Amino acid sequence: MRSKLSRRAFLTQAGALTGGAMAWRLAGGWLPTARAMGPFLNPLRIPTVLTGDHITLTAAETTMQVRPGAPTAVWAFNGEFPGPTIRRPAGARTQVTVHHQLAAIGAESLTIHLHGGHTASQFDGQPERFVIEPGASYTYDYELMEDGEPERGALQWYHDHSHFRTGRNVWMGLAGMFVIDDPDDEARGLPIGDHDIPLMIADRLLDRSNQLRYPFPADEDRPPVGDGSPPFADAIGNVVLVNGTERPYLDVAPGRYRFRILNASNFRPYNLAIPDLGPVIQVGTESGLLPLATTRDAVLLGPAERAEVVVDFSHRAGDRLVMQSVALDSPRTIPATPPFEVDVMEFRVDTTPSPVPAAALGPLPALPAWASQAPLVPDRVFTFGLGIDPQGRSAWTINGRAFDHHRIDARPEIDSVETWMLVNDTPTSTSHYIHIHGGDWVVLSRNGEPPGHGDLGLKETFRVDPGEVLVVASKFTDHLGVFMIHCHMLEHEDHGMMTTYEVVEQGRGDLLNPVPGVTSSLPPSSPHDAGAQRLAPATKATPLPSAPVYCDLTARG
Ligand code: C2O
Ligand code: CU
Repeated sequence: MRSKLSRRAFLTQAGALTGGAMAWRLAGGWLPTARAMGPFLNPLRIPTVLTGDHITLTAAETTMQVRPGAPTAVWAFNGEFPGPTIRRPAGARTQVTVHHQLAAIGAESLTIHLHGGHTASQFDGQPERFVIEPGASYTYDYELMEDGEPERGALQWYHDHSHFRTGRNVWMGLAGMFVIDDPDDEARGLPIGDHDIPLMIADRLLDRSNQLRYPFPADEDRPPVGDGSPPFADAIGNVVLVNGTERPYLDVAPGRYRFRILNASNFRPYNLAIPDLGPVIQVGTESGLLPLATTRDAVLLGPAERAEVVVDFSHRAGDRLVMQSVALDSPRTIPATPPFEVDVMEFRVDTTPSPVPAAALGPLPALPAWASQAPLVPDRVFTFGLGIDPQGRSAWTINGRAFDHHRIDARPEIDSVETWMLVNDTPTSTSHYIHIHGGDWVVLSRNGEPPGHGDLGLKETFRVDPGEVLVVASKFTDHLGVFMIHCHMLEHEDHGMMTTYEVVEQGRGDLLNPVPGVTSSLPPSSPHDAGAQRLAPATKATPLPSAPVYCDLTARG
């Protein structure tokens, strides 16, 4: 335990937030530091695992014992928060029927997104289309195939995606994990079975009677003025839950484990480390295994990002080791949303030595070919900022505009590879964590530099700090139709920072020419293209400007 005073101060500040009145004025500027969450009292909850080819999820209110005292009311799938963990082999078609039984407590329609999935548009869980009315059901059909192959093994997750209400609905509990299992993982020497453990980290605000308090009033209560101050943003809690458990510990054997870690928090990033153990080995991102295992002192995960790490407790029999979220070791030069510094959970290592030595870690799968063939010249630019919505209220924006489901901002062609530039030009110190539905992406550059450790492998959610310019690429395969682009700080998404793109037939795209004057430069060999030859950029590469780039997208025809 550390300072009691700072914990009390923190709770007072968190209490002030519940008033809501000040919340949007504080966006991005205020984050408490609360280190002391121990001692670790509660065994880590492992959600029920469902493996069938037709799974039923019922969303209903229930109570659960989050901590001693009064039980906490949650909105749960099948009575659990997180909902059941769905585990399916890559390539195995899976149907998920969702029953909406939350009518009694006034929840409006729901829509469930398989985050990380490569699904048809009507099964994408879009905010205002194919929604599930109270009392109704909807069956999502997931092929778990991508570009003619079984989808890559990965930790995906499912959650509500209702427009204006995603933040509240996820906060109340409508989220669960979905593991796509790659049958080759055992041969790769990766820990399997009960040594392969998904961990969902999420902070929540619990009041004195242990009830969840969503920090913001209903959307209609926002002031009808766009006075330039940010709308709702920092949904932050006073407890950090892992798999819905407050102050959790996990009994482990003195061997190797694979932890698949998801940050399901509405707003907060965590910089995860086990300082008393030393570096961990990162083997995967939100889109599956990295081509090379990477040693990491700490792994920064923003909302919706995932990391898969291999942790070796072999020589630590009898020890107790704490996973913490720690300060960044190289502080950023521009203020950005900092990681929440907090103790997250404890590992209690058994005293009996493991009878079988762990297999050596074998080679990991290569990235798909398109990842080294993406054009270096960005085809499109998306800027993430602040503006005014059509009702005259402050809103988070993409390319200057708040979300409108009737507007399509990009029409890439099926089977094409495109390069997109993501720019945070918000005039506050907030980072954004940009998620693009539909497929896997590679980061080609960050501020003109080759991707660093946090940007390696395939991804679909990207940290973009204030003023940063990220260049990313993807191939649009299999499914025509509309998909979403949004910030995964859920209150940013709910209050405007979301738009759509539509995958169209070949020859019907809107990509007439590259954005004039904007090119990306990369050194000849980046960590992504060991041995692979990149396509030459169409025009002579010039270094990216370090300041945000403003492009007149309307001039693009
Ligand atoms: Cu996890 Cu569009 O969201
Ligand atoms: Cu954001």
